[in-house]
Amino acid sequence: SVERALRPRAFHEYIGQQRVREQLEIFIAAARNRSEALDHVLLFGPPGLGKTTLAHIIANEMGVQMRQTSGPVLERAGDLAALLTNLEKNDVLFIDEIHRLSPVVEEILYPALEDFQIDILIGEGPSARSVKIDLQPFTLVGATTRAGMLTNPLRDRFGIVSRLEFYSAEDLMHIVARSAHLLNAGLTEEGAIEIAKRARGTPRIANRLLRRVRDYAEVKSDGRIDASIAAAALAMLEVDPQGLDLMDRKLLEAIIHKFDGGPVGVDSLAAAIGEERDTIEDVIEPYLIQQGYLQRTSRGRIATQTTWRHLGLTPPSAADSAE
Ligand code: ADE
Repeated sequence: SVERALRPRAFHEYIGQQRVREQLEIFIAAARNRSEALDHVLLFGPPGLGKTTLAHIIANEMGVQMRQTSGPVLERAGDLAALLTNLEKNDVLFIDEIHRLSPVVEEILYPALEDFQIDILIGEGPSARSVKIDLQPFTLVGATTRAGMLTNPLRDRFGIVSRLEFYSAEDLMHIVARSAHLLNAGLTEEGAIEIAKRARGTPRIANRLLRRVRDYAEVKSDGRIDASIAAAALAMLEVDPQGLDLMDRKLLEAIIHKFDGGPVGVDSLAAAIGEERDTIEDVIEPYLIQQGYLQRTSRGRIATQTTWRHLGLTPPSAADSAE
């Protein structure tokens, strides 16, 4: 895919997530020195911040193979058993959306993670028996948007828990510059800054915007992406100067116009804007909260004064909006 072509393959190509990266580099070096599998790793954080990329990098830096699957794909215990029994020494098994594993599959996983063993049932009826199979030592890398959605026993089995954070505009600028270079696109520093500031702290979005801005520059101009071409293209894409997109504004406008600024429960909000609750919680809200447009309280979501002003409205008085 286009996205894969831009993906860094090793830590020396990787930009940002300094804290997570420093930790992983140490744990990987130690495991390699001992010729052991790296301890199981849980990566969590909003979509597009590079969980899959990091899983690939972990495998590359460990010098092992990676097998990839996802929670919803593993329907039966046998699906996971087939993957586990094919792993070689110290391999990485990457399970995306690990919070969506079925309980029967999760049951198989526990002894696999703890003792590198699985118990499987062979045959049916009176002749059925349970057989223990030894596995090669391996590393599970699990990814999820919210660590809180994992069951406690599963979460407890990860020795390394890494929370990915939104990228700074500066890190995104370097990512966009690197991607433009790989895509052979002419991008000025000001053009890179314009895209980076408006990418919701998310490399996947930055790279997507870069490709669309490049299309715009090639068709409307000479292909060179400077600040003014980037700004014009982003306006066409309805990404506003603060980097909020159509869905962000739809959600914020609903809170203000349909619910008097809140508090409003997430299910009412989902119905009002026609979005899935999970999409609101995993994709839209985290950035709005981080940027101070939205507050999550026990009584529901509240639009902040920043939001009223952003939408060109006068915020209600501080007394009205006090909790
Ligand atoms: N492309 C997407 N994410 C990246 C990152 N963190 N570093 C470098 N290139 C990237």
